[in-house]
Amino acid sequence: MLLFLGIAFALGTLIPGTFSLKQQYDGDQVLHIVPETLHQVQHLQHLCNTLLLDTWKPLLPEDIQAGEDLHIRVPASLVQEVKDSLDQHMISYKILIHDVQEIVDQSTPKETSNHKQIPESYNYTQYHPMKEIYTWMAQIQQNNSELVTQHYLGETIENQTIYYLQISQPSDKAKKIIWMDCGIHAREWISPAFCQWFVKEILQNYESDPKIRKFLQNLDLYILPVLNIDGYIYSWETNRLWRKNRSPHMNGTCYGTDLNRNFNSSWGTLGVSYNCSSEIFCGTGPESEPETRAVVQLIERKKSDILCFLTIHSYGQYILTPYGSTTEPPSNNEELMHVAQAAAAALAEKYGTSYQVGSTSLILYSNSGSSRDWAHMIGIPFSYTFELRDNGIYGFLLPADQIQPTCEETMLAVTTIIDYVDQKYFPGGAMVLTSCTLGLSLCLTAVLMLIVL
Ligand code: ARG
Ligand code: ZN
Repeated sequence: MLLFLGIAFALGTLIPGTFSLKQQYDGDQVLHIVPETLHQVQHLQHLCNTLLLDTWKPLLPEDIQAGEDLHIRVPASLVQEVKDSLDQHMISYKILIHDVQEIVDQSTPKETSNHKQIPESYNYTQYHPMKEIYTWMAQIQQNNSELVTQHYLGETIENQTIYYLQISQPSDKAKKIIWMDCGIHAREWISPAFCQWFVKEILQNYESDPKIRKFLQNLDLYILPVLNIDGYIYSWETNRLWRKNRSPHMNGTCYGTDLNRNFNSSWGTLGVSYNCSSEIFCGTGPESEPETRAVVQLIERKKSDILCFLTIHSYGQYILTPYGSTTEPPSNNEELMHVAQAAAAALAEKYGTSYQVGSTSLILYSNSGSSRDWAHMIGIPFSYTFELRDNGIYGFLLPADQIQPTCEETMLAVTTIIDYVDQKYFPGGAMVLTSCTLGLSLCLTAVLMLIVL
């Protein structure tokens, strides 16, 4: 062990943390390049492949394209070599992140607030480790027992329990369901932060906000704060930039399946890898991962009641519609686009953040086996992936001071979608509301008249 530590120190990449060895990124840089020619594209692909660089956007060297953004993380030891090579090939670049470790440190709270766990003092503008999110879930249910129940969804490969929260207003009438999951990809910390923010906002405002009050009469909200719990923990304790789950493969020589390529929608056909050391390894078969199966089981059971399936990621600022792996658009494509555009417009109104809207295969890059495509394929009419902030300044390392603005604006987009779905499937609701209001004002007028008389 001592020898191992010694080697790790010598390599300069790992330091002992409280519980485990933490990957360090001192001096690593993230570069932004827009290749102009095919020749440049080929050289960049060659660089990424031979030096095994971590491509953030696109996720695969083969998806690098002329005229499109490329974001790559270059380890400190290779920064000079890569820059020299870019210069030689007259490829211009900008430095997005000068020192990755500095940004990692900024977004990781020094001390996690183990004792201040009452929800009133829960800090929604910080990132939280899994232990705190577990406590938060339990307490949200306890403190809002009339509205919130915590349900078992399944277990991860490392035997962590996956829970989702159900927000339901008690009612005798049959309701429909809105699903939202966060934390499929471990390093996208803003995603679980948004799910928590969303729950807080609904609980804080459902009595005073007529919109929320109205859709809660018809819709139950199922919120899964973190699906890839093992990966999330690993990103806190060992490797901040971990993406996949933690399933072992090839006798433990490589780890992790990309859960968003593991669903049973054209599984394994496009924008995936069969190599378990790849960031986009699609698993050994459709639903090979327990995390995927946990989601599938619940959704299959409830699918006739689920109207809308939202899955939250980062980064890039997109609202993505199905499908990611065929060029054939969904039958309700026009409506899906129209609603997403309205959501993006509502979002932009808050802070001017601009989102692109469209099908993954058209505006980002193709991939098969995503939960969004699967959900639409099994008949859930509205299915979207959100790629939250930013657009390539901090990328996966969005600083904590952007949690609040990001969540505020995203809230507007998500509630726009829920509102639309509510009004489409429960048009009577609006009528009831108007006739109530009408009734009330008639009543008031009568009372006023009486008084006047
Ligand atoms: N959350 C997405 C994923 O990991 C990000 C994809 C788009 N953005 C990007 N910077 N690569 O698959
Ligand atoms: Zn993602």
